[in-house]
Amino acid sequence: MLVLGIESSCDETAAAVLADGRRILSNVVASQDSIHAPYGGVVPELASRRHLEVIVPVVEKALGDAAVRRDDLDAVAVTQGPGLVGSLLVGCSFAKALAWAHRHALVPVNHLEGHIFAAFLTEDPPEYPFLALVVSGGHTALYHARAPLEYGLIGQTRDDAAGEAFDKVAKLLGLGFPGGPIIERVARDGDPGALLLPLANMTDGAQDFSFSGIKTSVSLQVKRAGTLTQAWVADVAASFQAAVVKMLVRKTVRAALRLGIKRIVLTGGVAANGALRAALGREATEHGITLHVPPGRLCTDNAAMIAAAGTARLHAGTRASLAMNAIPDLPLAV
Ligand code: KG4
Ligand code: ZN
Repeated sequence: MLVLGIESSCDETAAAVLADGRRILSNVVASQDSIHAPYGGVVPELASRRHLEVIVPVVEKALGDAAVRRDDLDAVAVTQGPGLVGSLLVGCSFAKALAWAHRHALVPVNHLEGHIFAAFLTEDPPEYPFLALVVSGGHTALYHARAPLEYGLIGQTRDDAAGEAFDKVAKLLGLGFPGGPIIERVARDGDPGALLLPLANMTDGAQDFSFSGIKTSVSLQVKRAGTLTQAWVADVAASFQAAVVKMLVRKTVRAALRLGIKRIVLTGGVAANGALRAALGREATEHGITLHVPPGRLCTDNAAMIAAAGTARLHAGTRASLAMNAIPDLPLAV
């Protein structure tokens, strides 16, 4: 079973060929970081234009790297949503055309399910049931994966996504884009206890996340400090990262204990963060919970994860017609 995955939901144009839902034959990711860096965030119009320019060479490279001809494919899996509509449309339209021309099955994939399926591309895939913490630039949500392709939403962010908060704080500190990896690097020289930051607790008892309080407090303290010395910037980065990690770890482990779930999957761009991986790993081990984290290149946006989720959906009988459309706010579970 050969599935071509296509991903274009945000600012990465990606294509991958996956064999039998597990073996990555190729995994090509064209990043647009340098295009959006001057703006400190993704500019949707620039993103969709860039997808248009590179989608053909990216798919051709994925097929070439895998030594697979278009006719050899069994299906084309493509991110249908959630994401930026103009960006999604490029991948969806391209996938439809390819599937039509070669009579391949067309499989729409939820980007968040893709992030979860990155965990099945490792040597140590999780058994069901498990909790999946999906932390990326656009999303922060905790899902209960009860059985294959069956999800319940435990909690999600009420404001910014975790990655978005990293990007905004990096911009505030003049550190560049994308902020996550830069904050992580700068934080190594800082004191995580230097700033006192508020951790939100939902007054309605919900298990949601919130990062706006942390972000606003950082912003106020940075403005009050005036000049940004290198040491101060490192302290702010370290304190901010520690607060975000604490909130994510605390809510996730509490949910696992409450539901009696023994496995956690950590995925999405922010899962590349070493401090988060280490802290969640420590806390999980302490409570007899196994943590599964895909390698960094499978945590950030890629098409191998889309092909993996697409293969599972294909086996479950999912097929789309050419009327399939991008859905910018496609939910994974409610
Ligand atoms: O999953 P992803 O590649 O794209 C979306 O679906 O959004 O996630 C991108 C996000 C960005 O906000 C980026 O700053 C963040 O992931 N990120 C990190 C790290 N690497 C990427 N955040 C914290 N630490 C990192 N090492
Ligand atoms: Zn993503």
